[in-house]
Amino acid sequence: PVVAQTAAGGKPISPDLFGIFFEDINYAADGGLYAELVQNRSFEYAPGDHDGWNPLTSWEFLREGFATGSLSVESAAPLHADNPHYVQLRVETPFQKGAGLRNVGFDGIPLKAGEKYDFSVWARLKSSAAVPLLVQLRDPKGAVLAETTLSAQAGEWQQLRATLAPSATEAAASLAVLATGKGVVDLDMLSLFPQKTFRNRPNGLRADLAQTIADLHPKFIRFPGGCLAHGDGLDNLYDWKKTVGPVEQRKGQRNIWNYHQTAGLGYFEYFQFCEDIGAKPLPVVAAGVSCQNSGGTWKIGGTGQQCVPIADMQAYTQDVLDLVEYANGPVSSPWGAKRAAAGHPKPFGLTYIGIGNEDKQTPEFRERFKLLYDAMRRQHPEITIIGTVGPGPKGEDYDQGWAFANQLNVPMVDEHYYETPRWFMTNNKRYDRYDRSKAKVYVGEYASWGNTLYHALAEAAYMTALERNGDVVQLASYAPLLAKEGHTQWKTDLIYFTNTTVAPSVNYQVQQLFGQNQGDTYHAGVVTLPTGATADTTVAASCVRDAKSGDIILKLVNTVATPQLFSIDLTRFAGLKTAAARTVLTGPKDATNTFTSPRTVMPKATAYKAAKRFTYTAAPYSLTVLRVPGR
Ligand code: AHR
Repeated sequence: PVVAQTAAGGKPISPDLFGIFFEDINYAADGGLYAELVQNRSFEYAPGDHDGWNPLTSWEFLREGFATGSLSVESAAPLHADNPHYVQLRVETPFQKGAGLRNVGFDGIPLKAGEKYDFSVWARLKSSAAVPLLVQLRDPKGAVLAETTLSAQAGEWQQLRATLAPSATEAAASLAVLATGKGVVDLDMLSLFPQKTFRNRPNGLRADLAQTIADLHPKFIRFPGGCLAHGDGLDNLYDWKKTVGPVEQRKGQRNIWNYHQTAGLGYFEYFQFCEDIGAKPLPVVAAGVSCQNSGGTWKIGGTGQQCVPIADMQAYTQDVLDLVEYANGPVSSPWGAKRAAAGHPKPFGLTYIGIGNEDKQTPEFRERFKLLYDAMRRQHPEITIIGTVGPGPKGEDYDQGWAFANQLNVPMVDEHYYETPRWFMTNNKRYDRYDRSKAKVYVGEYASWGNTLYHALAEAAYMTALERNGDVVQLASYAPLLAKEGHTQWKTDLIYFTNTTVAPSVNYQVQQLFGQNQGDTYHAGVVTLPTGATADTTVAASCVRDAKSGDIILKLVNTVATPQLFSIDLTRFAGLKTAAARTVLTGPKDATNTFTSPRTVMPKATAYKAAKRFTYTAAPYSLTVLRVPGR
C-alpha cells in the first residue's frame, strides 16, 4: 500500500482517531447521564416500553392526613400533542395534609446536603380558587428534607418553579407534591434537577458521569446508537426532530432496549455536550430502514427489516438534510433558527454523519441508503458520510456492505465487532492489509467481552494497531459506554455507575491512556519487539508523535505473565529531552475495577530517563505509555 510519509518519516494518523460511542442502553441516558431525577416525569411510560409499565409507573397516589380525593391519567387537552398524558388531581377535602403524588426516581432520588435542586411542574387549575401545592423532598422514612409551597392559579397550563435545598444527604429520597386546598388541578412534567449539572447547563447532564466521559479526551462522540438509531420497527426509528425544542414538547418513545426514552437528552444536548468537551459530533441516522431483527426475533440475519415507503423517502431525506441545517445552518435558516432559539446561535460544526447501523444488505436498504447518500453528497459535500457494513468482523453483510460502499465511493464505513481477547491479539494485522484506495474505516463498536486487565490489554494491543493504521482507520470507539448497576443489559461496558458512584472499568483506563496520548504521525521501526515474541499474540507496541508538543509517545503492551524486553531507537528524532513521563497500568491478569474496589488497577505515573537508544522491560500484564518530551 502507498501511504503518505511526513518529512520526519512518520505516517499521518487521523486527527480524530479515538472517540466514544454513546447509546441509551443500560439506562445510559434516562436514569444515567441525563441529570433528571424524576422517573416518568411526563406520565408517558406505556406497557409496550417494558412489561407492567404504565403512565403511573414510579408514581404513588398520596392521600395524607384525612384527605379525600382521586387521581386519574388524562389525555383530552395535553400540554403538547407529542406529550399526550398528564394527571388530574381532584381534592375533595384536603383535611390536615392534602392529596397528591410521590415519585421514587430511578432507584431513589439521590440528594446531597448543601446542594440545590430545581423543581418545576406544569399545572392547570380547573377550579376557581387558587390551590397551594406543597413540594417536599423526603427521606425513605418520610422525613422532610426540604419543602416549599407553590400556588396553582386558575387558567391555562403554567410552569411553576422552585429551588429546594435538602437538609441531609440521602441516596434514595422521593419527591412528593401535595395539593393542600380543595380543587381540581392537572399536572405534567414534574421535574427535579440538581443545579450543578455538567458545565451548569440547563436540562443538563450528571456532572460526575459527564466528567468521567470528558476525561477520556474523546475526539468525537457518536450518538444516539447503535440499534437505538434505527429501532426495531418503523415506529421506533429515532426521530431527531422530536428530540429538540422545549422538553415538554418532545416525544418520548419506547427504547429498543426495553425501557423508555424521554428525549430529554436530545440532539441539542448531544451537540452541546460535544462542544463542551471538545469532541466532534457524529450523529448516526437510520438508513430509512429499521433493524433486520425487528419483530422480536433478535436473531442476526433476521428478516424483519421495515422500510420507509419510497413515497415517503423524500420527506425522510429532508429530515436528514435538516439535521445538517440544525447543526450548521445560519440563524436565518429555519432549523438554524431553532438551534438559536435553544440558546446556541453559533453553528455546532458538524463534519460527520453516519447513515445506517449494522443493516442487512437488502435491496430495500440499498435503495434507501443510496437516496440519502446521493442527496447528502449533492447538498453537503463538506460532510463526511459513514456507511455501514453489518455486524462484523466478517460475513455476508460485511462483504456485501463493503462492495456496495466501494461501488458508491462512500468515504468511510462503520465496522463493528465484539470478539475474544485472543481474536484481538491474532487480528492485530487486520488493517495492515487494507486497500488504501478504498473507503476508510470507522471501527464504530468494539470490545473484547470482558473487563479484566487481560481484556483491557488485548484492546490496548489492538489500539496500537489502529494507530499504526491511522491512515485508513479514521475513527474508533469502544462500545457500549455506560451501564447502570442493576440495569445492565449488555456485558461488558466501559463505565459502570449507580445513582451516586462511578466505577470506570480497567478498559476505561486503557481508553483514557490512548485518548490522552493521541499522536499526529505514526513511526514504524522505532520499537523492536522482544526477541522471539509472537508479535500478534503476546506483545504489541506503537510509536506516535504529537506535532504540537513534539513529544514522542511510546505504547508498549505485554499480555503475558513474564516480563518482556522492548528495544527503542529514537535516533531519528532530533532535539528530544531525556526526562520522560512514564505511566504504567498493570496488575494480576484477571483483576477488575468494581464498585467495592474501583481502584484495583489504576495507571501509575513515574519519571523515566530515556535515551537515544534504550531497552525497556515491560512488567507482566502491563501497558506502558512513555512520553518523551520534544522540547
Ligand atoms: O453496543 C450494543 C449494540 O451492539 C449496538 O446497539 C448495536 O449496534 C450492536 O449490535
